[in-house]
Amino acid sequence: MFLAACTNSATDITVSIVPQPESIEVKGGLKPCNTFVTSIDESLQPEAYTLVIKKGKATIKGGSDAGIFYGEQTLAQIRSQFGGQAPDIRISDAPEFAYRGMHLDCCRHFFSVDEVKEYIDIMALHKFNTFHWHLTEDQGWRAEIKKYPRLTEVGSVRKETLVGHLGSSNKFDGTPYGGYYTQDEMREVVAYAAERHITVIPEIEMPGHALGVLAAYPELGCTGGPYEVEGRWGVFPDILCAGNPKTLEFLKDVLDEICDIFPSEIIHIGGDEAPRDRWKACPKCQAKMKELGFTEEAQLQSYINSEIEKYLATKGRRILGWDEILEGGVTKTAMVMSWRGPEGGKAAAKMGNEVVMTPNSYFYFDYFQTGDPEANGEGIGIGGYLNLERVYSFNPYEDLDEESKPYIKGIQANLWTEYLESFDRVQERVMPRMAATAEIAWGQSRRTSYPEFVERVRKALLPIYEENGYKYADYAFRDPAVD
Ligand code: ACM
Ligand code: ZN
Repeated sequence: MFLAACTNSATDITVSIVPQPESIEVKGGLKPCNTFVTSIDESLQPEAYTLVIKKGKATIKGGSDAGIFYGEQTLAQIRSQFGGQAPDIRISDAPEFAYRGMHLDCCRHFFSVDEVKEYIDIMALHKFNTFHWHLTEDQGWRAEIKKYPRLTEVGSVRKETLVGHLGSSNKFDGTPYGGYYTQDEMREVVAYAAERHITVIPEIEMPGHALGVLAAYPELGCTGGPYEVEGRWGVFPDILCAGNPKTLEFLKDVLDEICDIFPSEIIHIGGDEAPRDRWKACPKCQAKMKELGFTEEAQLQSYINSEIEKYLATKGRRILGWDEILEGGVTKTAMVMSWRGPEGGKAAAKMGNEVVMTPNSYFYFDYFQTGDPEANGEGIGIGGYLNLERVYSFNPYEDLDEESKPYIKGIQANLWTEYLESFDRVQERVMPRMAATAEIAWGQSRRTSYPEFVERVRKALLPIYEENGYKYADYAFRDPAVD
């Protein structure tokens, strides 16, 4: 049996951990706890650990270095809630989901390498293991690709940015906005993440959200352009031409360099929000459809995906794409990221495709976190409303039969940054909601009542947020108020 916030009846010491461990036993009074030893225990799963504290001396055993690292995060939570002390304690723990992700859009707004590293630190504190780095967009291409220098020379800079909300403003700031990561910087981020047992999955969008590419290389669009890097938000009709052989050549060249930088087995190929109007009117795309015997434009997207999947497979990589990749048919080996609610993910799991659940109805952290964003100072935002309790309530297995459940590989929260200009705002949108995400990702079956979870967050995480100067949303706890 597990005890949520585990109380030692003899001394009344309550120990709180987030995410909730598999088992925790507390005995004895508090003693200074300044030393710990670690070792590998091969009988444990790679990410599992045990943490035993006796008379202030901590022993962490992990199934691998990752398990030890998670044990260290737990120890830090215990020490911080007791001012460097600890009771005698025995914890054993292992994650339920193999994929525990956070996403960051560095295209709509650009975040420096130091900020990205801080985001990774925050993820590590919550025992996430996957960073989904959104690097290409209509509003800016952010990854240096040596074979295509115009991607960053031209494609990374928009001439101006919308001021205010898309729904009510037509005003632009008249100021160029840009930024990109050099290959050395991306490697630095990959190495930094790896030290924290986090894999970086790069996302290279295809065929939509491509104006950064098209502004730089207009011959890759159906009309030939001219195109501009976009200064508004939304979904735009100009996408990569599926009938031009140069498109696949370009994508493969880009992926060659991306695979060189990112060792992740999984490569995200985007796939969302690609309107097919240009393909309908394009002689090259129509000729390609005829050649391949296709009856619907959606099949062209599946064609690109399967060509890219085959190419990446030669490098030992696999594809992950937004749930639109299901539309024209998908191979069995593609992983699906379910964002338009959980339905796409459920359908994919039933077909035997691996799934990452990131439904916008629970995990779109650009949405507001209170019912009164203005009074709470949430700043400008895209809209939506997902409070902490709502996030905590997500059940990744809802309506799934036993056979389909193993295909749910994990969950992820996404942070789109159209309206998030500063890293302070980024932090505020993800904390504390990522604590709820972490708890589901690490141990959804061990979730407690919502008030009890909030109590653990307050005790185990807020002191660490404060020690590190993280800008979390304190107002999140007022909606609904939890006493
Ligand atoms: C998405 O939010 N367009 C994946
Ligand atoms: Zn075309």
